Amino acid sequence: MVRMIMHGCNGKMGQVISNICQEDSDIEIVAGIDPYAGIENSYPVFPTIEECNVEADVVVDFAAAPAVDNLLDYCIMHQLPVVLCTTGLGEAQIVKVEETSQKVAVLKSANMSLGVNVLMEILQEAAKILAPAGFDMEIVEKHHNQKVDAPSGTALALADAINEALGNTYQYRYDRTQEREKRRKDEIGIQSVRGGSIVGEHEVIFAGLDEVIEVKHTAYSKGIFGKGAVEAAKFLAGKPAGKYDMKDVIVAKR
Ligand SMILES: NC(=O)c1ccc[n+]([C@@H]2O[C@H](COP(=O)([O-])OP(=O)(O)OC[C@H]3O[C@@H](n4cnc5c(N)ncnc54)[C@H](O)[C@@H]3O)[C@@H](O)[C@H]2O)c1
Repeated sequence: MVRMIMHGCNGKMGQVISNICQEDSDIEIVAGIDPYAGIENSYPVFPTIEECNVEADVVVDFAAAPAVDNLLDYCIMHQLPVVLCTTGLGEAQIVKVEETSQKVAVLKSANMSLGVNVLMEILQEAAKILAPAGFDMEIVEKHHNQKVDAPSGTALALADAINEALGNTYQYRYDRTQEREKRRKDEIGIQSVRGGSIVGEHEVIFAGLDEVIEVKHTAYSKGIFGKGAVEAAKFLAGKPAGKYDMKDVIVAKR
């Protein structure tokens, strides 16, 4: 049985994961962390990670970017593997994640769903053929009106996957309003739409001369991220220090 700490337990994702774990006899939430105390949980909840004195095998994080620094310090101090799912981390935090992964196991993924992680592989294969053939690549992402970061971490991860397949030679363009100039060949455009309760849509457009390919992933519920995060937690518990991603989880399950 894997013992898990849920960081951000009273948020939307924290609650989705609490429900998933209640139905899963291989994993148990032994503590939650959240400054918001308005929800009753079946496990003890601490307002800050520093106050948590419960032994665990792994932490799953869906909280807020400013909370990630203290979480990483705690995981190093307690030698706890961590599944980092919060998006919108700053540059310095991304460096800190790298440094932390030299000391404990860190699995960071902007999107925990099986579908998006398979989509990344499909995009890499497509980009290797289509980009040299002159296709332009654009990403349009849509999310609910409560989301604070833009573009989405998933849109950036999709762009990174494409860019990696092309030798990291592309720039990202988020805004075309400030300059009157034609689209450059070496850019990937990323546009964000916010509204209503859209769970998450990512559309990647490969636009060539007289033909267009559109590849789209739609999340219909947050359950897909929760399921992936729980699988990642089971995978990561007991792993040595290092950087892991959802690809490792998917390969291990094959
Ligand atoms: N990687 C993925 O697949 C994926 C999927 C969905 C959401 N997310 C990201 O996960 C994060 C949370 O999403 P959500 O929809 O659950 O948001 P939410 O706002 O509903 O929940 C966040 C929770 O974190 C708590 N929190 C704030 N500061 C904290 C701290 N210092 N310590 C512990 N908890 C703290 C809040 O009180 C809140 O309950 C966001 O960054 C979101 O973009 C990632």
